[in-house]
Amino acid sequence: VTIRRSDYAPPAFLVDTVELDFSLDPAATTVRARLALRRNPEAAPDAPLRLDGEGLALLEARLDGAALPPERLEFGADGSLTIQDPPEAGLLETVVRIAPEKNTALSGLYTSGGNFYTQCEAEGFRRITFFPDRPDVMSRYTVTITADRALCPVMLSNGNPDGSGAAEGDRHWVRWVDPHPKPSYLFALVAGDLVNVHDQFTTRSGRLVSLNIWVRRGDEDRCGHAMDSLKRSMTWDEEVFGLEYDLDVFNIAAVSDFNMGAMENKGLNVFNTKYVLASPESATDGDWQGIETVIAHEYFHNWTGNRVTCRDWFQLSLKEGLTVFRDQEFSADMGSRAVKRIRDVRGLRAAQFPEDAGPMAHPVRPDSYIEIDNFYTPTVYQKGAEVVRLIHTRIGPAAFRKGMDLYIARNDNQAVTIEDFVAALQDASGVDLSAFMGWYDQAGTPELAAADRYDPATRRYTLTLRQRMPPTPGQPRKHPLPIPVAMGLLGPDGAELPTRLEGENAVQAGTRTLLLDQAEQSFTFEEVPAPPVPSLLRGFSAPVRLKGVPRDRLRFLAVHDTDPFVRWESGQQYAASVMLEMVAAQQRGEAPGFDEALAEAVSNTLAAAEADPAFAAEALLLPGEGFLADQMEVADPVAIHRVRRHLRAEIGRRCGAALRQAYGALADTGPYRIDGRSIGRRALRNACLAYLAAAGDAALAKAQFDSAGNMTDSLAALSLLADTDGEAREGALAAFHARWRGDDLVLDKWFSIQAMAARPDVIQAVRALYAHPDFDLRNPNRARSLIGAFASGNPAQFHDASGEGYRFLADAVIALDLINGSMAARLVGPLGQWRRQSAERGALMRRELQRVLDTPNLSKGTFEKASKALA
Ligand code: ARG
Ligand code: ZN
Repeated sequence: VTIRRSDYAPPAFLVDTVELDFSLDPAATTVRARLALRRNPEAAPDAPLRLDGEGLALLEARLDGAALPPERLEFGADGSLTIQDPPEAGLLETVVRIAPEKNTALSGLYTSGGNFYTQCEAEGFRRITFFPDRPDVMSRYTVTITADRALCPVMLSNGNPDGSGAAEGDRHWVRWVDPHPKPSYLFALVAGDLVNVHDQFTTRSGRLVSLNIWVRRGDEDRCGHAMDSLKRSMTWDEEVFGLEYDLDVFNIAAVSDFNMGAMENKGLNVFNTKYVLASPESATDGDWQGIETVIAHEYFHNWTGNRVTCRDWFQLSLKEGLTVFRDQEFSADMGSRAVKRIRDVRGLRAAQFPEDAGPMAHPVRPDSYIEIDNFYTPTVYQKGAEVVRLIHTRIGPAAFRKGMDLYIARNDNQAVTIEDFVAALQDASGVDLSAFMGWYDQAGTPELAAADRYDPATRRYTLTLRQRMPPTPGQPRKHPLPIPVAMGLLGPDGAELPTRLEGENAVQAGTRTLLLDQAEQSFTFEEVPAPPVPSLLRGFSAPVRLKGVPRDRLRFLAVHDTDPFVRWESGQQYAASVMLEMVAAQQRGEAPGFDEALAEAVSNTLAAAEADPAFAAEALLLPGEGFLADQMEVADPVAIHRVRRHLRAEIGRRCGAALRQAYGALADTGPYRIDGRSIGRRALRNACLAYLAAAGDAALAKAQFDSAGNMTDSLAALSLLADTDGEAREGALAAFHARWRGDDLVLDKWFSIQAMAARPDVIQAVRALYAHPDFDLRNPNRARSLIGAFASGNPAQFHDASGEGYRFLADAVIALDLINGSMAARLVGPLGQWRRQSAERGALMRRELQRVLDTPNLSKGTFEKASKALA
């Protein structure tokens, strides 16, 4: 069934208060729910009282104390319950039985390692009790949990604690009251044998908040960074947005079986252990940064998501795009803004651009879905954040802050729409933002091109910008979007030229933002002393593809631009253009050449690296295989891989001395530290190591692996050794496994590295790992670490001409769909990219998609992904 945005209707009944009594038992938990219902005055007067439900065994149903006779209960095929002849208002009481230990979908209430956890967003609450499970029904919750004292010494839910005591036999109870009304997707319950790391925070207005991170016994000493990130997030949100925490406790529980990264349940965030636990020995620098970002993200949802929530799931980006924007800004403030921006753009291009160019392309605010779970996408999250950033750029930071204040003041405790968000920013800024709604409604990545002309006689310089947007499924025709183009002009010596845009009355230095809001527009600059080189899209001021910048300008900008993003970007685009040409040569059967400028760029980067090692590390990396494939009409993953490998080896050889010198000089001397500079130095050093290994020096990687004192260096070396042949490889992988087999998160890395190795026998190795005793399809992190890493992280092998990679993925998806449909749907994605592959590969991919689609009892989510991919 397709759900459409245009079909929205307000809920028939509202639920003012909810009382939930859980009696926990892994095999048979009972849930008693008392809902104070009343008809919604805004809804049709005869709308039925329908409660969502899924897989619930109903034991009792009463209305205002009286048992409801069976003829007033109508069960839908989807598991829902409709009450016939509903009253205008009343107290509905139901008791249901569920089996958390049998819940392998990890949606609703489930067990992991003997403890109880919930995941309700988007539609998991209906797997716990009968309820109008939609975000525009907001209620106050009181939750009482009873369980065996030994099995569940700790029992948590949303809000503040409100009493506890002994219960029958060996059982005990606790009560939680959440004073803030919330939708059901923010409900959470966690219970089990957990220990907490405790700290506290005093808000600006003096509220003392108890902070706790709940983990399995033994994990306590790996929570320090998460706690520190939480406190910094709380301070930052007060300082930057004036937003304070609003309960007496903030709990975080970490669980190792979790479908996504984390979940912002009110007062009780539930996290994948991957985004909580870290020690220098076991976590990479990337892991540390991931923890900081995700902790901040979930904390920031308390206002953007929880206090102000979504009216319906089409508005998902209202909370997700905005909250990603906020966590990006937080991380930028914590470290290097330029490097953070580069990483975010890299991520956007790796995941979102291909999505926008593929069968699942959808607007930031989708028009329809079959399974909402499939729309927790890079488009809704990352592109959604870019759209918020566009508005931020358009109206400026001060007006943006005023707009946020207004947004929250107007919409607190309400479930609202993206229009409400844009309206607040528009009203606060006085800038007409109506055209920006196009960014929410049109799928696809706009292409931007520039042409320019300089007239020495009049000293006028004209810049013509043009946008076009390719069609996407269901949207054949597009209209132009407002594109803020942050830009500057560089003189022939590389210095920034002060300029005067026609109509302005003074010459002005530095970046200015042009607004391109038509298909084509010209901008004329006056009193320009010499023919300039335009620096466009500074800071990546819009999520577009800037095309056709000539190579000589790219080289010039990569060296001279004042904007670090454009410097990095120009180097990447230059390399990409060289590499794509090499791919074409390779396809014609010509021997690969080499562009000296690439080696020169590496030498220059190394020479200047000391000033900003993290930036240098970004600049040193060649464009990724996926990024290159995304720029080809018909991708050639194998040729791309060969070219990239060849280039890396050439650069490693030609710049060997400089790379070796930098590698030596960048070695950590003092104790291990995770500040930005140390992280940057390690990243740069490992980038040097990778070039040297590509040029054939495996001994250096082996030496680093043997002596590494932290996971970043150890893993960097291991992933290089994994690409080689022979004893060093086998020895390192075995040693790593032996050392870390008790640590799930590290073992995931061991699986991933092998799945992503550049070796001809990878598919067999992946099949063998799938059968490895440490592999567990039911654990989402483990499934991702092997299946996802192979299909998304190893394009050359996944797209092997034999089709074996596709066959493996389809086999895994079919097996996983029976266990966890939502995970299966997520992993099937790479098969959907068949249109961008050769005819032969495309046919093999379609055959596997069809095999998935022909599987009986396929989950809704996997069905949606596979059928849309084939359509
Ligand atoms: N709201 C959560 C977050 O952004 C993610 C929830 C994802 N849920 C899902 N069904 N995919 O952190
Ligand atoms: Zn989120």
